[in-house]
Amino acid sequence: MSRQLFVTTALPYANGNFHIGHIMEYIQADIWVRFQRMQGHAVDFVGADDTHGAPIMIAADKAGKTPQQFVADIAAGRKPYLDGFHIQFDNWHSTDAPENHDLARQIYRDLRDRADGSLIEVRTIEQFFDPEKNMFLPDRFIKGECPKCHSKDQYGDNCEVCGSVYAPTDLINPYSALSGVKPELKSSEHFFFKLSDPRCVAFLEQWTQDGKLQPEVANKIKEWFTVRTNPDGTTSEGLGDWDISRDAPYFGIEIPDAPGKYFYVWLDAPVGYLASLKNLLERHGRDYDAYMANPALEQYHFIGKDIVTFHTLFWPAMLHFSGRKTPDNIFVHGFLTVNNGEKMSKSRGTGLDPLKYLHLGMNPEWLRYYLAAKLSARNEDIDFNADDFMARVNSDLIGKFVNIASRAAGFLTKRFEGKLSQEWGDSGSGLLKEIAAASSSIAQSYDTREFGKATREIMLLADKVNAYVDQNKPWDLAKDSANNAQLHAVCSVLINAFAMLTRYLAPVLPSLATAVQTFVGQSMTDWNARANVIAIQPYQHLMQRVTPEQLDALFGVVEAAPDAPAAKAKAAAPASSANAPGGEDLAPTIHIDDFVKVDLRIAKIVHCEAVEGSTKLLRLTLDAGEKDEAGQPRLRNVFSGIASMYQPQQLVGQLTVLVANLAPRKMKFGISEGMVLAASHGDEAAHPGIYVLTPWPGALPGMRIR
Ligand code: MSP
Ligand code: ZN
Repeated sequence: MSRQLFVTTALPYANGNFHIGHIMEYIQADIWVRFQRMQGHAVDFVGADDTHGAPIMIAADKAGKTPQQFVADIAAGRKPYLDGFHIQFDNWHSTDAPENHDLARQIYRDLRDRADGSLIEVRTIEQFFDPEKNMFLPDRFIKGECPKCHSKDQYGDNCEVCGSVYAPTDLINPYSALSGVKPELKSSEHFFFKLSDPRCVAFLEQWTQDGKLQPEVANKIKEWFTVRTNPDGTTSEGLGDWDISRDAPYFGIEIPDAPGKYFYVWLDAPVGYLASLKNLLERHGRDYDAYMANPALEQYHFIGKDIVTFHTLFWPAMLHFSGRKTPDNIFVHGFLTVNNGEKMSKSRGTGLDPLKYLHLGMNPEWLRYYLAAKLSARNEDIDFNADDFMARVNSDLIGKFVNIASRAAGFLTKRFEGKLSQEWGDSGSGLLKEIAAASSSIAQSYDTREFGKATREIMLLADKVNAYVDQNKPWDLAKDSANNAQLHAVCSVLINAFAMLTRYLAPVLPSLATAVQTFVGQSMTDWNARANVIAIQPYQHLMQRVTPEQLDALFGVVEAAPDAPAAKAKAAAPASSANAPGGEDLAPTIHIDDFVKVDLRIAKIVHCEAVEGSTKLLRLTLDAGEKDEAGQPRLRNVFSGIASMYQPQQLVGQLTVLVANLAPRKMKFGISEGMVLAASHGDEAAHPGIYVLTPWPGALPGMRIR
């Protein structure tokens, strides 16, 4: 029977590009979704950017953009990653979209206005306030020691080491991450979701312990029902209430009937799943309410282990007590590490840059295969290891699987006009039967997210096919035309075997499967489409091998020792800041592709003046050789923080370097249309001074610097 599935991945914060951890999560979900579709089930697979919260607001401010512009710029960069790794979301939306504002506010009202007693409560709480920045400090901008495991430098909302969730006031020795000062307590009215209410506790104890969640996840959650850490470091019993409001200034959704109060980002973030779905459905003329009311609808969220609390307590409770459908399951994966590295920082990512991988021409399906081979249904970390990657791709994927086709196809095309024999002999028929019989077991592995098990089962079958090749030696048979019938049979068995194995791997290798579909003339998108292959098209190379050079380049090794193994291919450790040139460590290695994105031009400073109301800025008028439509010189207005070093008249007539393709930035004094380059020391206090760059004589306005 065909099922209706609604599937999501966690919504990434819109404060940076995807890193390899995100890509891993999307590949895991994408494989599962493709598998379900191959089974004939209907799937709506959606994602979105998680746009709200103080960290994004602060980052946008630093970048001189409105939060809306900031998150739009991040969103604009998503597609190359998703397309590049063959991740097929049906929709990519935003938590700042109108659907999400409406849904979040409606869910809140439903919780607040419950006939059997409200689940929302207003309380005055003491909250940390940064006296220097003059604002209440968002959780992520208060750091201190975890009250539970005593790890240092943990954020105010939850501990990245032990995973516990607490209030910022629970932290030991807190400090403001914005100014470094010790924050003060100030009172403010906050809205709480009463998770400690007996109705919620009873519901969640049932919902989390009824056997659907992964056992290791359910066990962990069990602890949260019994112990909770209090502000003073003591513990008490049961679930605590959840603070769901934040005071202005905040980038988020305003709480109904509470001006100046906004939903805490984690209140509206998961609602973004529904908003993205609603947007998708409505764009296709489908009715969201009817869709959600379908009792057969199944809803699944793929997430990482760090956000389990939000998805197994807060989210189901929000949905249930607002009269909505709760998820059928939450699929929790562990973290991806790279070359045995530390857990990647959520914001900084790691040495494996997904776009660089693609720019180097590395096949995305290598990574999909490698991750599939490593993934299980358990919440456990996996490591990307360069040696292991090369071995699994070259020996297993290509050596055992892809080569089956290339070994047989040549003979069939040259000797038998591409037509296959339907007489396979006993051992050939037996082999094909055995491969066909594995279908349901492999399907079961995919369905339960045991992708490692699925690929092992498939590779075991590939081993058997290769044993059959070694027994029948087609290259020997080909030497004597008396063996033609046998050669034909053997090669035909191989192509049929290859077609079946390809179909088993299609959720992992969609693009290779598409190529094979043409090659063997059979559908590779229907799990049950198996039929005897009648004829093949001429064989086209399906997949290259990974080279050590690619891995070296990927991990930024510039000068690898001639015989350095690929596993050593890690970026050199950054110098300590004490010895760092100019007072700061070198930035991570970039590829030439990254550099050429920056368009640097020679510009002439045609005018320069002080900026009234600013002691730091000078206003420069620059000629970078540009002309407007009428052929008149187009001049640029650029603000530069160099007033401490230069008098305006010193600069007029000089040439300098302009970042010419920087997005215009709206500043208090006007719009800045680019930036001029200047040098300064990393430790400005100890080494003041900022020095504008000028080119050697001969350079002219408009010339590009490369
Ligand atoms: N915005 C929240 C999620 C809101 S869901 C309604 C968030 N964003 S995130 O960008 O930090 O993380 C997005 C997803 O990537 C999470 O599921 C997270 O666990 C996952 N990963 C982040 N780093 C990861 C690895 N190193 N490895 C695997 N997954 C990782 O949390
Ligand atoms: Zn901790």
